[in-house]
Amino acid sequence: MTIQEAIIHRHSIRKYKDEPLSEEHRNKLQEEISLCNTESGLHIQLITGQKDAFEGLLAHYGGFRNVHSYIALVGKNTPELDKLCGYYGERIVLFAETLGLGTCWVGGTYRKNKARYVLEDGEKLCLVISVGYPAEDGHVHRSKKKEDVSNITDHSPAWFVQGVEYALLAPTAVNQQKFYLNYQEPDQVRITTKSGPFSNVDLGIVKYHFEIGAGNHFTWKE
Ligand SMILES: Cc1cc2nc3c(=O)[nH]c(=O)nc-3n(C[C@H](O)[C@H](O)[C@H](O)COP(=O)(O)O)c2cc1C
Repeated sequence: MTIQEAIIHRHSIRKYKDEPLSEEHRNKLQEEISLCNTESGLHIQLITGQKDAFEGLLAHYGGFRNVHSYIALVGKNTPELDKLCGYYGERIVLFAETLGLGTCWVGGTYRKNKARYVLEDGEKLCLVISVGYPAEDGHVHRSKKKEDVSNITDHSPAWFVQGVEYALLAPTAVNQQKFYLNYQEPDQVRITTKSGPFSNVDLGIVKYHFEIGAGNHFTWKE
């Protein structure tokens, strides 16, 4: 499965089979996480191997079942942390999808004191992502229209249209889709968001999706 196919097929999965990740899947995820950490300076951690590892963390929260493993998005407590975690967390989510794994971003209140991730000096947990073998299909989320989240027109370049389409397939907190993608000639894009829960995490996630759709035809305008 390509990353493009992963974008199209991904839905949040909250119910998992009652089995831990295989060694092969653990190793592959760990490799991708290490690449992300090197590139970003984040301290993302894969927590596996304990039946109901999530139970303490997310006890009976939001219909999650059989979470044996999760990814803790940790990094230096800077203003950029949420966006970075969104961007690299979604890279790991889509990579997991290509391995046939299901995931769900979890920002809600969970019992952090039961967690097994490590925080170095000055670091903070941004949020976590559950990961495992899907025991449900997930479903297509309700979506805004391309015109609601961008300045798309009949004359927009094809890469911009594809980027916006992939952005609309991205997971966002409470499915809020509060981002806006503004195309500026000749080949620049500015992304902004209205405020909402985890909206900066969403921004990072959506940026990653847009880049996969639009390819290298543009640069981000800060
Ligand atoms: C930053 C963030 C936080 C989220 N927090 C939760 C959560 O606490 N509980 C939950 O069940 N889903 C959570 N979600 C999943 C969203 O509800 C889900 O992505 C959205 O409804 C779109 O559905 P989809 O992921 O299946 O496309 C979160 C998603 C994001 C991006």
